[in-house]
Amino acid sequence: MASKYLIRMNDPADWLRTYDEGTQQVNDFILPIGPYEKNEMSDTIYHKNASVDYHEHAKGFETFFIREGRVECVIRGQHFIAEKGDILHIPPYVAHGFVFLEEGTVWRELFQEINMAQGIMNKNRIKGNYDGLYDDPNFRTLYRQAHHNFTREKPVPVDVPRENVRELRAPGFSFSTYHLNGAILRLVVGRWECNGVKEVWEAEVEKGFKVHWDYPNPNDELYYVCSGRVKCNVLGEEFEAGPDCLIHIPPYTTHRFEALEDSRVYDCGCAARLLDLMEDLTSLKTYQPDKMADPAFVSEYMRQYNCWVTYCGKD
Ligand SMILES: [Fe+2]
Repeated sequence: MASKYLIRMNDPADWLRTYDEGTQQVNDFILPIGPYEKNEMSDTIYHKNASVDYHEHAKGFETFFIREGRVECVIRGQHFIAEKGDILHIPPYVAHGFVFLEEGTVWRELFQEINMAQGIMNKNRIKGNYDGLYDDPNFRTLYRQAHHNFTREKPVPVDVPRENVRELRAPGFSFSTYHLNGAILRLVVGRWECNGVKEVWEAEVEKGFKVHWDYPNPNDELYYVCSGRVKCNVLGEEFEAGPDCLIHIPPYTTHRFEALEDSRVYDCGCAARLLDLMEDLTSLKTYQPDKMADPAFVSEYMRQYNCWVTYCGKD
């Protein structure tokens, strides 16, 4: 039996629920967690030419990893094509609509303050119990208001170069990049884009890179292994995570990771103020190197940023 901390997104045995929505199949992996409904994650697998009408949300944050396929996007009226490997981050009041151009497009969804699983359950409850009600325009207005969702008019799209779209994070994109011993960290979604709740980092790690969290801490952590292989030890339980795996660590659960191959891993729910920490540690190294030589000072300093890493690097 696989570990309860491991979710193999391509293995139905690890799905919470799956439902056929006609033009797409939804596989739920993690339900929303905590007051900010963090770390909700699912795959939606679209049939060719399925679409999502142009709409915006009054609350909530959607981060989409395009795992397979190509997607015609209109975001704030800007028309462009997103591809496998791209990430899109959509905050409130940013209108967006999509056409999925390939059969089997895998749209890997990370939500905050959206509660998509609840929304789909509500929709199916209405459709299952009240014939035609969901298509009644008056009811639909009420429903959308209740779900903080505004349908917008079909947009008049303007073609733009991909690099001009602020919501698109193509491979290699980074707001800030940090080089550690055995890893490169790239900030792909900033805390200022997530209501101050989290950051999303891409970690490109070398074989042999290790990270330890040996102190029980309050953070709920979610890692997405995109490529490579990672050995995990969670409360003494060992398992390996490969491509298309999530590692979900509940609060107060000590754990260690080691890259068994060169790997690319996303920290999807980074509660630590990691950008601030990396900036400030860089400042300390430059201006107060004597303080950085004191491990107790550094450890205490990291905790002030809610970072509970007790070791990271390559032996
Ligand atoms: Fe949306």
